[in-house]
Amino acid sequence: MKTILTGIRSNSVMTLGNYLGAMIPMVRLANKYSVTGEYQVNIFVPDLHSIISEIDGDLQENTMRTLKSYLAAGLVVNDNVHLYRQSRVPAHSEMCWLFNCVATTGELSRMIQYKEKSEGKESCNVGIFDYPVLMAADILLYSASYIPLGEDQFQHIELTRDIATRFNHRFQTDILTVPEKTAEQVKFMGEKNGVRIRDLTNPEKKMSKSTRSENSKIMMDDTPEAAVKKIMSATTDSVGIVHYDLWAQPGISNLLMIEALVNDRPIEEVAEQWLGATRYGDLKRAVAASVEKELTKFQERLGEIADEEIFSLLEAGERYANEVANQKLHQVQECFGLR
Ligand code: TYM
Repeated sequence: MKTILTGIRSNSVMTLGNYLGAMIPMVRLANKYSVTGEYQVNIFVPDLHSIISEIDGDLQENTMRTLKSYLAAGLVVNDNVHLYRQSRVPAHSEMCWLFNCVATTGELSRMIQYKEKSEGKESCNVGIFDYPVLMAADILLYSASYIPLGEDQFQHIELTRDIATRFNHRFQTDILTVPEKTAEQVKFMGEKNGVRIRDLTNPEKKMSKSTRSENSKIMMDDTPEAAVKKIMSATTDSVGIVHYDLWAQPGISNLLMIEALVNDRPIEEVAEQWLGATRYGDLKRAVAASVEKELTKFQERLGEIADEEIFSLLEAGERYANEVANQKLHQVQECFGLR
C-alpha cells in the first residue's frame, strides 16, 4: 500500500497559509484515500523541526493544538490514518544522521529556505542548515510517495528524491522509495501549481508566521472580526480590474486563491466569476465573509476536541510509526555496515 505523508511544525499557531496550503489539502486527500484502503496516511508534527527557531508559547501545547487542528479541519481518522510526533519516533533522528553522510554541503547551501533564514547572519544553528535532511528522513522512513505541501517546500522534496536515488545507487539497492516528482505531487493535490498564500500587506512575499506585521498574516486563532479587518485592508493594486494574474496583480490573485481554497472551488471557476469586476471592495467583502465563516467553524470545532482523544490516537499512531520506521532504519543501517 502506498503512503501519503505530511507535517506542520508547531513552533507557533498556524497561519491561514499553513491551513490552506497544507492542512486542508491533506485532510481532503486523507478522507478520500484512507477509506478506500488505497493509501496509508501519515500525519505527524515535526517537533524536532520546530525547535530550529524560537518557540512562541509552549511547545507541547502547540503540538497538541496542531494535532487537534487536523480534526477541526475535518480529518476523519480510521485504521489507515496515523498521527504521531516526530520526537517520539527516535528513528527519525538516527536516519537523519545516516542521510547526513549521503547529502552534501553544496546542495544544502542551495536550499532557499536556508538562505532566507540565515540571510545577513554570520552564523546560524546547524539545525537550520540540516533541516531538509531530517525532512528526507521523515519521508523515506515510511516510503511515502505523496507529500502534500505548500510551494515553498518543493525544493526539499527534490532534495529528498536526490538523497534516495543516490543512496540506492551507492548501495545498489531499491530499499528507499523515491517520492513522486513535484509536478506529480501538485497533480495529486488536484492543483495546477503549488499553493502559495501571500502576505496580505506585501503580496510579493508568502504569508509567514515569522513576519512581524500583524496585518500581513491571518493566524488561525485570530478572532473572525480581526481576520475580516485584515482582509479588508489587504494591499491590492491600481489596475482597477479583477484579473487572476499572479505577476501583474499578486494581491488580487491572492484574494481569489483564498476564496477558491476556503470554499473548495477550482481557482479557474472563481477567477472567471470575478473577471472584469471593477470594485475591489466587493471582492474583499466576499473573501472576508468566506474566511470569517471558516475561522468561526474551525475555532468552534477546535474547542470541542479533548486532549484524551488526541492521546489515544497518538498511542496507536506512535506504535505504528515506530514499527514501520525501525524496520526501514534497520535496512539502511545494514547497507552502511552498521548491522
Ligand atoms: P512549516 O510548518 O513551515 O509549514 C507547514 C506547511 O505549510 C505550508 N505553508 C504554506 N502554504 C501555502 N502558502 C503559505 N503562505 C504557506 N506557508 C506555509 C508549507 O509549505 C508546509 O506544507 N518542512 C515542513 C515540515 C516538515 C515536513 C516534513 C512536511 C518537516 N518534515 C516531512 C512534510 C514531510 C514545513 O515547512 O513546515
